[in-house]
Amino acid sequence: MSEQASSSYNVLFVCLGNICRSPMAEGALRSAAENAGLNVGIDSAGTASYHIGETPDPRAIATAARHGVDIEGLRGRQIGRDDFYHFTHIFALDGSNLANVKAIAPPDGTARIALLMDLVAGREGTAVNDPYYGDESGFEVVWEEVTEAAKALIKDLSR
Ligand code: 4NP
Repeated sequence: MSEQASSSYNVLFVCLGNICRSPMAEGALRSAAENAGLNVGIDSAGTASYHIGETPDPRAIATAARHGVDIEGLRGRQIGRDDFYHFTHIFALDGSNLANVKAIAPPDGTARIALLMDLVAGREGTAVNDPYYGDESGFEVVWEEVTEAAKALIKDLSR
């Protein structure tokens, strides 16, 4: 194994179902961190409970795989109270999930909570839109967006 710079960062990505957007963000950041030799804790979760224990959506798996990233082993889970203490950063994929994350955050939670695309210059305040009810092209857009955000995050964490 190669030498890795140690990091005290623990990053959680949060969308609605934890089967499309946040597992893709998790895969994109895992890949970017590995390429950069950065040791970052990375996980994802949903605000909803619909898909607990499920694999990512087959379209999300296929899109990540086309970009050389394997997310097949991930399983859906719902965000919980402990996450607000364990993670240093919680990034919501859109405004509605951001509002829901903030609404359930314990008052003394230590994680910094933000919108994912706020990391990307020129994209502040914008959503990574839910691709679930669309076709596969929407998943490609999601991949591009989460990859941009992952790159920006790696740059921040490498400073
Ligand atoms: P995600 O996409 O929040 O990006 O995982 C969705 C997955 C499932 C549902 C909605 C969005 N659903 O309604 O089941």
